[in-house]
Amino acid sequence: MGQTLTEKILSDHLVEGDLTPGEEIGIEIDQVLMQDTTGTMVWLQFEALDLDEAQTELAAQYCDHQTYQFDFKNTDDHRFLRSAAGTYGAHFSRPGNGICHNVHKENFAAPGKTLLGSDSHTPTPGGLGQLAIGAGGLDIAVAMGGGAYYVEMPEVVNVRLEGELPEWSSAKDVILEMLRRETVKGGVGKVFEYTGPGAESLTVPERTTITNMGTELGATSSLFETDEKTKDYLERQGRGDEYVELTADDDAEYADEIVIDLSELEPLIACPSMPDNVVPVREVAGEKVEQVLVGSCTNGGYEDVLPAAKMVKDQEVAKHLEMIVAPGSKQAGEMLAREGWTAEMMAAGVNVSEATCGPCIGIGHVPASDSVSLRTFNRNFEGRSGIEDDNVYLCSPQVAAAAALKGEIVDPRDLADELGLDAPGVELPDKYDGSKTDLIYAEDAIDDELIKGPNIGEVPLQDPLGSDISGETLLKMEDNITTDHIIPATSDILKFRSNIERLSDFTLSRVDETFAQRAKDAGTGVLVAGENYGQGSSREHAAMCPMYLGIEAVLAQSFARIHKANLFNFGIVPLAIDEETYEKIEQGDDVEIVDDVAEAVESGQEEFTIRVNDDWEATANLHASERERRILTAGGKLPLTKQQAEGG
Ligand code: F3S
Repeated sequence: MGQTLTEKILSDHLVEGDLTPGEEIGIEIDQVLMQDTTGTMVWLQFEALDLDEAQTELAAQYCDHQTYQFDFKNTDDHRFLRSAAGTYGAHFSRPGNGICHNVHKENFAAPGKTLLGSDSHTPTPGGLGQLAIGAGGLDIAVAMGGGAYYVEMPEVVNVRLEGELPEWSSAKDVILEMLRRETVKGGVGKVFEYTGPGAESLTVPERTTITNMGTELGATSSLFETDEKTKDYLERQGRGDEYVELTADDDAEYADEIVIDLSELEPLIACPSMPDNVVPVREVAGEKVEQVLVGSCTNGGYEDVLPAAKMVKDQEVAKHLEMIVAPGSKQAGEMLAREGWTAEMMAAGVNVSEATCGPCIGIGHVPASDSVSLRTFNRNFEGRSGIEDDNVYLCSPQVAAAAALKGEIVDPRDLADELGLDAPGVELPDKYDGSKTDLIYAEDAIDDELIKGPNIGEVPLQDPLGSDISGETLLKMEDNITTDHIIPATSDILKFRSNIERLSDFTLSRVDETFAQRAKDAGTGVLVAGENYGQGSSREHAAMCPMYLGIEAVLAQSFARIHKANLFNFGIVPLAIDEETYEKIEQGDDVEIVDDVAEAVESGQEEFTIRVNDDWEATANLHASERERRILTAGGKLPLTKQQAEGG
């Protein structure tokens, strides 16, 4: 039987297991990437593991999320990251150089290689045939130390694209259509492989918009085969020699097939406040807009900003709104400036920003209260923009620019008729020629020891798993709780990302402001949640801080993939409960796991009995591999890896 492309790349990197969907496999990692908000912990953990040098072919540290240095803590973090990259042999990308996924795609992403990144949108370079997976920081530290990365073998789904995109529809509409059909849970445990004539018609930047936002489907990764378009893109980036032809076998067997006819796609938009709340733009036309943002790792490339720039050229953005363009990378920003597009946008009333994630996580350009913001980003979770009652819509750069001109949501096809606009299309430059001044290559490192400012703390460690887990249900939460709910990424909070003692004060504060104090007072406890607990980012702080506060178990109807791995990594027991148990259990209830927990986890027991208020009992399930059970028993991955290194 033939293989899918995913299976081929995994076979080439397999160190443990076989490729049976649902079974755990161990794979070798060629490249790792880190961003600033997760990177400090990666390096502190790398240091705690007593490792000398990055063992992967390539490691790259980016400063992109919190580039505005409001406070010495941010600047200290950036300096620490530069020193860690220099000390341990990683490339370092300075603040202002751009978003990790954009800069990685431009400089290092390579077909057929594996990439592990401490950011959930790591799958972006799947658009050029790289199998890229997002993971928690500790997994990155271990992979960088030469250890395998363990993941459940995903099901591989073929997304067959037919036809070609009509004018005014874009790659963003392809992934919004996927979200409309499959929802934010539809990709869990899956890799989406895009094939067919429609896939061939898309350029690499369009493909990476799709693979980037596959994360919102909950997918492990997303992939395109490589072809002349991939080769052409790499050549324009000056890296043609890294091209490798990669295709699935003709007789490859997929777990499922989804067919999308691109020619039928119209401009789409995700309404507040979930990326799968997708409707045609025309259905929400007329809604007044006060802010428009073009940028992010989804649509911040040169090829994304250019259509918006062409549309606003010789026009004026509506007076009552602000349009902000934050290019995804300095390469994109520099080229747009050299070609005169930055001046055209500025003349039209656009506020051109530095290359940063910033507003995507509520750092800068927070919308006005009770207003509508249109963004070309990938997430619109409530409160992520920096204000709780936000109304964020997600759309393509074309739809965003149309709204900026009209002052309200408008189908760009209607605006084109009204203003006589030509469809901007997608245009690649002859050559990508941004400078590399903000990239410090490992071989040119300027530091050879770690520089730690006063805000850079210690990595917290957990004791080995004990035999009893019991405590109060400190919080009962609904479905789809995101890592943004658990540890918000806003600037006032994220500046403590290297200081867990301080950061933990904000744990789940967006759900219940009293939670952290109550957890501290109780000293121990459990959390209860509905479906898809921990969706969103790879932020391991979302497991580390609850651990620090004494949370020993999370009882949820289901867990998001990366967050579940992070719970294991920090010694918190993730137990699955059914809907009936979820409905019955109340906040404040006392929960006791009746079994000897350490013994049960070690012996491979799946069913656990929980007793609530000494009154009723229910079953909770632990779905964990042998390796995950070893991690839990040791109190987390860091203590286990240290034990193993010491021969214990
Ligand atoms: Fe940055 Fe937002 Fe992407 S935070 S990495 S631009 S999802």
